[in-house]
Amino acid sequence: MRGCGMDFEGSRMLSTGQLLLAESLSIFDPASPDASSILNLAILTLAVTGLIFLVVEGVLFYSIWRFREKPGEKAVGEPPQVYGSMPIEVAWTAAPTMIVFFLVLVTTRTLWEVKPNLPVAKTGDNTLFVTVIGHQWWWEYVYETFDGRKLSFVTANELHIPASDEKVSRPTFLNLKSADVCHSYWVPRLAGKVDLIPGHTNVLSLETKETGLHLGQCAEYCGAQHANMLIRVIVHPPEEFERWLESESQPANEDPAVREGKEAFLAESCVNCHAIRGTSAVGTYAPDLTHLMVRETLAAGMIKNTPENLDQWVRDPQSIKPGCLMPAFGLDDRQFKLIVDYLQTLH
Ligand code: CUA
Repeated sequence: MRGCGMDFEGSRMLSTGQLLLAESLSIFDPASPDASSILNLAILTLAVTGLIFLVVEGVLFYSIWRFREKPGEKAVGEPPQVYGSMPIEVAWTAAPTMIVFFLVLVTTRTLWEVKPNLPVAKTGDNTLFVTVIGHQWWWEYVYETFDGRKLSFVTANELHIPASDEKVSRPTFLNLKSADVCHSYWVPRLAGKVDLIPGHTNVLSLETKETGLHLGQCAEYCGAQHANMLIRVIVHPPEEFERWLESESQPANEDPAVREGKEAFLAESCVNCHAIRGTSAVGTYAPDLTHLMVRETLAAGMIKNTPENLDQWVRDPQSIKPGCLMPAFGLDDRQFKLIVDYLQTLH
């Protein structure tokens, strides 16, 4: 379908993928109370069903071996057939019912444990509220309040949250919505999967003491680039998180050296979709670029945010993420360079 450029693209993406996978996505390495509850349930369920499997297979293989045909047995004919044994019928109805009932009970307990109890934001609550909007194929984060303070910025793809510590719990509540189709928010080390459904709001809570990067992935097929709808959650110590909030709240950096690039950006149709706070670009269809350079990755976690990748992304996004809704614009080299140089000043 696509030209020979594909091989190069493919190998480059593979190395990015391996790089990202080097960081843990495993449910067996929980970093939050919710993820631990889910892991405990998974292990218990696996143990119960594993035991049933062993018993059933054991009896099956024993019967095959024990009652195999012996020499001369054919002439005797079939052994006596047994129908309708009441004790056996009762036993093999009651036992599975009890096992299923037990699994229902432990599952309900876990659901109860991980169920977010959405509080009302108030001063001193140390709680972060963010609205997450799933788009084909990226995540929009609208920061609402922290510690009762109103926040008013929007960012994309990389969610920054504060860490809890021994003394203070700093939970994050996510209101999950969708702008188009169903998506699912899944950061295995922090929480279970919760769907983002058009016209409906779900709630997910995250809380962890482990600072650093936690990876996730859209977990509901949502179109061609579903696999490349990656989630990055960056957990900061409280002071560092405050500094991040402060910097994100600022309007875009003004650098007179890239005035021409800014004008080129604002003159193009970029502004129909993208917003840069403090400029006339107020599009809401695509990621807010106000602090673009703070992000470590581009294209929803697919590639590192390096000058070369940013340049290629702006020139020809389809070569990196085929089917994504950002078109390639027919600008000349000079204009591309001006725009990319401008974007690189958005710290
Ligand atoms: Cu979004 Cu899959």
